Amino acid sequence: MSLKASCRWRGARLRTILILFIVLFIAPLAEAQTKLRFVTWRSEAERVWEQIIADFEARYPGVKVVQEVGPHSSTEFHDLVTQKLRNRDPEMDVFFMDVIWPAEFAAANWALPLDAFFTAAERNLFLEAPIQANTYDGRIYGVPMFVDAGMLYYRKDLLEKHNLPPPRTWPELVRQARIILAQERDPYLTGYSAQFKQYEGLVCNMMEFVLSNGGALWNEQRLQSTLDDAKAKEAVRFVRDQIIRLIANRGILAYQEPESLALFTQGKAIFHRNWPYAWEASNDPRQSKVAGKVGIVPLPAFPGQKSAATLGGWQLGISRFSRNPQLAWQFVQFMTSGETQKRIALETGRGPARKALYHDPEILKKSPQFQSQYETFTLAAPRPRTPVYLPLSNILQRYFSSAIAVADSDIDQLARAASRDMDRALDLLRDRRQR
Ligand code: GLC
Repeated sequence: MSLKASCRWRGARLRTILILFIVLFIAPLAEAQTKLRFVTWRSEAERVWEQIIADFEARYPGVKVVQEVGPHSSTEFHDLVTQKLRNRDPEMDVFFMDVIWPAEFAAANWALPLDAFFTAAERNLFLEAPIQANTYDGRIYGVPMFVDAGMLYYRKDLLEKHNLPPPRTWPELVRQARIILAQERDPYLTGYSAQFKQYEGLVCNMMEFVLSNGGALWNEQRLQSTLDDAKAKEAVRFVRDQIIRLIANRGILAYQEPESLALFTQGKAIFHRNWPYAWEASNDPRQSKVAGKVGIVPLPAFPGQKSAATLGGWQLGISRFSRNPQLAWQFVQFMTSGETQKRIALETGRGPARKALYHDPEILKKSPQFQSQYETFTLAAPRPRTPVYLPLSNILQRYFSSAIAVADSDIDQLARAASRDMDRALDLLRDRRQR
């Protein structure tokens, strides 16, 4: 055999041995890896979440977290998760849950009750409102990851330039925006940026206007819609006639959180309503043209009324159809630990769900606003906590959207119809209560 042929032969033998080694030893090891499927929404800080998951895997060798990333929109993400639950999909172990879902998931028998894992003593370490939102018929179905509450961001530089204090009432906000718009004469500048697309965020925004006018979406005791009450309608009319018509750009009707935030960070909006993470994003010079020029205050109220912030936030739940609830719990525990929540607060500016972190010197140094926001979080207004929240929200979304999108919409008639539809959806609950 020539030298060349002998080398080739030896090379082939080596390759065969290598393949045999992989097939016999490495591949079974990979098989032995336990997979945990985590269905999560698309975060604006993906890198941070990925690093945290990688750290979990490092701590639990042999466990691979398979992430399925759904849409950012709560409404669209709800469709994805509920479709899997309806199909009793055993592939999904852990899922992200908006604060408005636990009652529905519990009543449908989709989410695993976590009482055996999540003790009362542990629950006490969390803010009360999200714990309540995760509790249904006396059992707990999710562990809060972070909390949200609506806040008002504003261009500190522009308000100072025009000698204006941060607005305390909605009419004052409109007045100030009009003064600044008239004097700046910048064709790209708009007065207000928020979430007015037809989806869950619209309900959050509109509820803040309604509540801060002394109105309500429903009467929880009587299980009746209050959309048709004068205060509620007055607030909706104000949004249509003053916010949208006078100071916002019509594009606002298509904005969810990311688009509305982008307008603000590009320096094209004077006022911006968003959740707490917008502070970090708008002050980060790598992604914002207005870094250092941003102020934050509680949302305004109507004259003589109190400001209202919608309670938001996300939790981790475990699917009842998971084949590995014990491991799923280890993952949930890691993701909601004080250590992880601190990382998330520091790196993304999201409000921790654990109370102690509001006294954490490192967090307060980086985000001093959390000190005053703690009160906003504890006073934030929950959306109706009921298993029929989704049908109610669909009615609310359709109503608010048609009421504000058209300049001459018949708000009385629309409110009456939406109220009737809500009452019909609530009949289901009333019947249950009476039984
Ligand atoms: C935020 C809130 C959530 C709310 C959603 C609406 O993600 O945390 O509760 O439903 O915004 O867009």
